[in-house]
Amino acid sequence: MTIVTCVAPVNMAVIKYWGKRNEDLILPLNDSISATFNVEYMRAKTTVMASPTFKENKIWLNGKEESFENPRLLHCMKELKQRAQKGNDVINWNIHVCSENNFPTAAGLASSAAGYACFVYAVAQLYAVEGDITGIARKGSGSACRSISGGWVQWHMGHLNDGSDSIATQFASVSHWTEMRILTLVVNDNRKKYSSTVGMRRSTATSSFLKHRADSVVTERVLNIIKAIKEKDFKTFAEITMRDSNQFHAICLDTFPPFMYLNSVSMTIIELIHAYNDFYGTPKVAYTFDAGPNACLFLLEADVPEVVALIQHIFPSDVAPVEYFKGIPVHHQNLSQE
Ligand code: ADP
Ligand code: DP6
Ligand code: CO
Repeated sequence: MTIVTCVAPVNMAVIKYWGKRNEDLILPLNDSISATFNVEYMRAKTTVMASPTFKENKIWLNGKEESFENPRLLHCMKELKQRAQKGNDVINWNIHVCSENNFPTAAGLASSAAGYACFVYAVAQLYAVEGDITGIARKGSGSACRSISGGWVQWHMGHLNDGSDSIATQFASVSHWTEMRILTLVVNDNRKKYSSTVGMRRSTATSSFLKHRADSVVTERVLNIIKAIKEKDFKTFAEITMRDSNQFHAICLDTFPPFMYLNSVSMTIIELIHAYNDFYGTPKVAYTFDAGPNACLFLLEADVPEVVALIQHIFPSDVAPVEYFKGIPVHHQNLSQE
């Protein structure tokens, strides 16, 4: 028996991926940009065991067995086997996979990103795959391609029909902007009603705003936010981040029939951050929300104590201890509004 255990962190998009041009290959309609969290915080941990005695492939997610007959898992496995070192017996053995997330699954906190990045990375180790694996992780879940590297990452949409140029690359390392912090505010840890896959399929089919965004908005935003990150220009970074999150959620409402991932607590957070920034006359904090009501706040280290105190004051119950780390560290708080 051969065993590999890996961990992979979540990543949080500041320019969102929402819409595919090819569902099977998971090719996006636009580039996206994200920050990969520190692996000490929100992460998937996956153990892959391979043995000639295993009768079939099996997978457990958070302790519950799931079907391995999942086209995305199978697609990743096929590509990993094609890229495996020749003569490696292990590729002919069945595998058992156990994965657990240390944060809410399917709640808009990028579990599919950490989960598939971890799965692909672990099996790639087992099969001694060499070279870029972001294109394989992408076939598990689009956002997963951005969790293979740390720091600041760009997923290039690519232009080739076979998707071979749709890969993710790091453009600034974790040590580039050491003052940057991310605060995660867990508003609701339930599974979302519409998975990201289903939601974006519906938006792609029905939202003309989504088409406008992909055709005319994102390219310039991507260039500008990369410049802002490289120059550590927090003001520009914050404004683009908030506008892009808002545009994504506006597209959800422009989808027909519409759906909303944000709830009233999310809206209170948005108003609070704008009031806080207005008080200082400059952006001090940027919010972003994925496909769920939970907030990720980007802010600089010096502002963390005041912002944490403010959050604890406005949302006094269930606030977990604040965690603190270097690089792109994460503070994780559970939130409920009184
Ligand atoms: P999220 O906002 O958390 O990324 P998604 O709707 O995109 O939610 O995806 C959730 C799905 O991702 C889960 O139902 C599961 O199929 C898959 N997933 C989540 N975590 C893992 C994991 N650790 N290993 C494998 N698959 C995972
Ligand atoms: C709102 O990568 O979860 O988090 O490719 O269908 O698995 P699939 O979707 P997924 O979508 C992520 C959407 C998002 C924005 C982002 O992470 O860029
Ligand atoms: Co996801």
